[in-house]
Amino acid sequence: MMKFKRMMAPLALALMAWPVAAQTVDNTKMNQYIDRLMSQMTLKEKIGQLNLPVTGDIVTGEAKSSDLAGKIRKGEVGGLFNLKGVDKIREVQKLAVEQSRLHIPLIFGMDVIHGYETVFPIPLAISCSWDMAAVERSARVAAQEASADGICWTFSPMVDIARDPRWGRMSEGNGEDPYLGSAIARAMVHGYQGDDLALNNTVMACVKHFALYGAAEAGRDYNTVDMSRWRMFNYYFPPYEAAAKAGAGSFMTSFNVVDGIPATGNKWLLTDVLRKLWGWDGFVVTDYTAIAEMTAHGMGDLQTVSALALNAGTDMDMVADGFIGTLEKSLREGKVSEQTINQACRRILEAKYKLGLFDDPYRYLNAKRAKKEIYTAANRADARRLATESFVLLKNDARLLPLKKQGRVAVIGPLGHTRANMPGTWSVAAAFDKYKSLYEAMQQKLSGVATVTYAKGSNVFDDTQLEANGSMFGREIRDNRSAEEMLDEAMNVARHADVIIAAVGETSEMSGECSSRSDLTIPEAQKRLLTALKSLGKPVVLVNFSGRATVMNWETAHFSTILNVWFGGSEAADAICDVLFGDAVPSGKLSFSMPKSVGQIPLFYNHLNTGRPLEQGKWFQKFRSNYLDIDNEPLYPFGYGLSYTTFSYDHLRLSANKMDRRGKLVASVDVTNTGEYDADEIVQLYIRDMVGSVSRPVKELKGFERIHLQKGETKTVHFTIDEEKLKFYNSDLQYVSEPGEFQLMVGPNSRDVQTLSFVLE
Ligand code: BGC
Repeated sequence: MMKFKRMMAPLALALMAWPVAAQTVDNTKMNQYIDRLMSQMTLKEKIGQLNLPVTGDIVTGEAKSSDLAGKIRKGEVGGLFNLKGVDKIREVQKLAVEQSRLHIPLIFGMDVIHGYETVFPIPLAISCSWDMAAVERSARVAAQEASADGICWTFSPMVDIARDPRWGRMSEGNGEDPYLGSAIARAMVHGYQGDDLALNNTVMACVKHFALYGAAEAGRDYNTVDMSRWRMFNYYFPPYEAAAKAGAGSFMTSFNVVDGIPATGNKWLLTDVLRKLWGWDGFVVTDYTAIAEMTAHGMGDLQTVSALALNAGTDMDMVADGFIGTLEKSLREGKVSEQTINQACRRILEAKYKLGLFDDPYRYLNAKRAKKEIYTAANRADARRLATESFVLLKNDARLLPLKKQGRVAVIGPLGHTRANMPGTWSVAAAFDKYKSLYEAMQQKLSGVATVTYAKGSNVFDDTQLEANGSMFGREIRDNRSAEEMLDEAMNVARHADVIIAAVGETSEMSGECSSRSDLTIPEAQKRLLTALKSLGKPVVLVNFSGRATVMNWETAHFSTILNVWFGGSEAADAICDVLFGDAVPSGKLSFSMPKSVGQIPLFYNHLNTGRPLEQGKWFQKFRSNYLDIDNEPLYPFGYGLSYTTFSYDHLRLSANKMDRRGKLVASVDVTNTGEYDADEIVQLYIRDMVGSVSRPVKELKGFERIHLQKGETKTVHFTIDEEKLKFYNSDLQYVSEPGEFQLMVGPNSRDVQTLSFVLE
């Protein structure tokens, strides 16, 4: 710090006279500091703070001479993103604090989405753990590692509700439910930001993508969104609101339109809802080139859309060069006001102040930390444990799992021996060489007690183009041998095995951004392999890798044992072995409904009843809401997941059958572990409002608890019901409860519930 001070120009030294509080930010001091700083800034420098260019032309050694370096020196850059490594970041930060006129530090962001070098499972998988302490811990570890490598701002959490698994970015979110999604949003924000953003091991969260990105029509990425405000407020907004109220420092706009206006230029969204209604006071950054994309949306030229974005409440322009290129002109022409530019600039300076960057712009740049704090044994243990909690056991009919550590095990399938496909989408800081493939992990686990063999068996797709589309960033696993040759090899290996682990499904880049699919089944090439393996009559464990819901009717009909493992992060392979061989008992439950057919999409458990509901258990009834060719039910319902043990739910009871608005009820249920393994269970509470001024969902998740039960043990789980749990947005968008009858349901998933009634007076 002393060294830094000595290098500072007199003005900056004067500015430093206001020390930044280490614990909580003193708003008066912050305002004084920023008032003083802004009084020295030119218009160009203020607009410079709103500019977030791409780091493309910055590499170590070249940073000083690049075009971007020139802009940084001129004060035309507010921050950079996805620049990796303390040395590179330090070099660039030095340009800003030593060579720009006002020495204003840059903010360094990155897509640290599910961990840094220690990669946790993809967010969709994490959401299937329903373990809020572990979710928060994953964000804490990510913050610790990213900040040790120079990052102080992460573009996470993504809290977009998704009801359409065709959309590849479902993998980045928390599934279909607003209650679970809100709980995760809070846990992630707190995990990243901790209690003190200025500490050098916390990072600022950026909640994305505001708003409704998960409702892209037909599941096609970047597509149009159109929905009623009633639906926005009841289903899609709650996780964003929860994250805002948890104090997230920044929000990112989404690419889609909301009510016909792109989110980035939507004043109702960014100002009326986010700031005024929810009282949020952070800064808004656009998604990548989202300002410029408004031209393609038909909103006008770059100057017009930049003014639209700023006036709507967007503060920072990611990559589009719209603000830096046009706002001066727009000010001259009266299309934006100086006050609006000042306000955006202030919000970004406030974020830098809260991060402690004015106190010490190098506070996140300690090379010693990077060596000590990244990919540590403790962090890896956390990631491995959470991965085991995220896997969902869909079927275990023959009680094949857990396997015994003995005999001959064959790992077969295109996902069986690939390191790069374990972490999943958005793992920008991953170090693939350090991770294990499933085959490697299993060899280690069974070393000395069993033999493990491997064959690839098939490509992911027969069609090379399809396979290339799903592996654009160098994680391809294409094999040039013929399908017959690969299958022959696999059958020879399988014939000598006692048990077959079929590692099939998607590659990691078949989900994530711009990875929409119209067909959600396991590709034909792999189905042929599965059919051949099954013909051997040996026990087969189908291990499905995926970043979304897979349509698995055929697999469900033909295989007794199915474990869904998503993309489990850097420790995925060990975690899968832990579960397969009983060192961990699966406990994950689906955070979305798994459809039987793409034709059922959008399919979600918290739907309305309609005026012509299908009778429960029926398939087709004329003049009822249904399909001719398939029933309405999901293949596996929301909240579903098996364990190696079994649980019974007994004696569901309510403390009273009436409550008033200020009162409370307690629902209790005795849950017993009736099987042979100590295990965790996720106990779920659903509520249905029987009569309302608007039609109400058939059930909504309103509570859950993850409990550990030893075999034979019983625990009583209590859920408190207060007015908050009964509220909803009515047709005037007022958040209200309405008196009348409610049903309360408790169970191990959204389908298999026990029901009681109570009345709100
Ligand atoms: C994605 C964002 C991401 C941003 C920056 C965009 O393409 O939509 O989720 O944070 O790029 O990398």
